[in-house]
Amino acid sequence: MILRRFNSTLIKELSQYKPRPLSAAEYIQFEKTGSIAESFKFCRHELPIRLINILEESNALPISFVPEKIQEIKDKYNATLEGLLPFINAEINDENIEKFDLEINRIIHRHRYVIEKLGIGIAEFRDNLNLNNPKEVTQAEEKIHYFLDRFLINRTAAKLLCHQHLQHSAALQNKPYRQSTRCFQTLEINDIVATVAKRVQDECDAYFKRRVEVELLCWDGEAEAECEKIEMVYIQVHLEDIVYNIIKNAMRATIQHNQNQETLPSLKVLISKGPNNVTIKVSDRGGGGSVEEQQRWGGYLYSTGVDEPAANLNNPITVPMVGYGFGIPMSKVLARYLGGDVVIRSMESYGTDAFIHLQTDPNKLFEVLPVYTSKTESFYKTKNMVNEWVTGKEQKISFTSK
Ligand SMILES: Nc1ncnc2c1ncn2[C@@H]1O[C@H](COP(=O)(O)OP(=O)(O)OP(=O)(O)O)[C@@H](O)[C@H]1O
Ligand SMILES: [Mg+2]
Repeated sequence: MILRRFNSTLIKELSQYKPRPLSAAEYIQFEKTGSIAESFKFCRHELPIRLINILEESNALPISFVPEKIQEIKDKYNATLEGLLPFINAEINDENIEKFDLEINRIIHRHRYVIEKLGIGIAEFRDNLNLNNPKEVTQAEEKIHYFLDRFLINRTAAKLLCHQHLQHSAALQNKPYRQSTRCFQTLEINDIVATVAKRVQDECDAYFKRRVEVELLCWDGEAEAECEKIEMVYIQVHLEDIVYNIIKNAMRATIQHNQNQETLPSLKVLISKGPNNVTIKVSDRGGGGSVEEQQRWGGYLYSTGVDEPAANLNNPITVPMVGYGFGIPMSKVLARYLGGDVVIRSMESYGTDAFIHLQTDPNKLFEVLPVYTSKTESFYKTKNMVNEWVTGKEQKISFTSK
């Protein structure tokens, strides 16, 4: 895919810049003191830089990795870039700022279903893999996994920039911003966790006709106790998505692993807030997985949910209990984007602990953004990467043969 020629000089110039990560504290400070003209100046430059970085990276992916749906996403990115470029050298006045806000709204609208398209695209990619060549599969998976992590962080960051700009614009006109849950704000996280847990409980009720109880406790410095208010600055929809994915996995595993039991083991959720990290631990008794299985859980190409009864999916009241198999990698992406992480550890046949780690201090809640470099390019282009480890699984040696 080639970007239109008439913009090529500008694109070349912008591609020299690295994305400029911001912290939650900077975003919040800017809300208080920044003008809309400053926000316009920052976004019209920063958004194209972030887009160009990821478009260049997607161009480095081997052609065979790019099914139709992924190509459609790239076309959307190109259209967005073309919509933004005319603003780069535009005069800073009310009329242009208003046009820019409209363009940002158009961008948000255009990219609404990218995750769904990506899910279908990845499924297509998975179906086309040559399973007779395990080495090729491993290498293809490694590259596509690396790309998706970076693509999704880039998308998340671009989306935040758009919403923060629109929220700022609305605030300066004394209007409410309907999508403020997509921007940084102070959240009561124990409330959010409780609400999300209730939502998944209801979904399980409807889908499996079974209910998993949740014991939600908070560490108060001395004991695990009923939760008082635990506050932190974060993006509400990100926190909800991460917690939803993790609790949904835990409840599904609990119900499926204990289907012959009359009472289900409850889910234990513990929240702690330290000077550096807020951690949410979700512990289930859903049977866990082996070391090998756990290694695959974090992949975009892995789900054990394919055999869900299809009849349920046609019932409008029930929400499917598995989607594209993205839950864990997407949760990791969202947490890592702001310097956190999601770590999952199982005890096979017993259960799983999932730890959601987030940065406590808004000054340390920094965006972590991918930068496209020659090293990234050579990673995608290198064919037949040499395996640096061998295991007995690959080497069928018989000690008795001569
Ligand atoms: N707590 C858990 N206990 C047992 N298995 C788990 C647990 N969490 C994840 N898994 C396994 O990891 C797989 C991948 O999880 P992931 O959340 O990424 O995708 P999914 O749940 O299959 O689909 P999606 O999250 O997109 O709806 C699951 O299908 C399941 O087999
Ligand atoms: Mg899941």
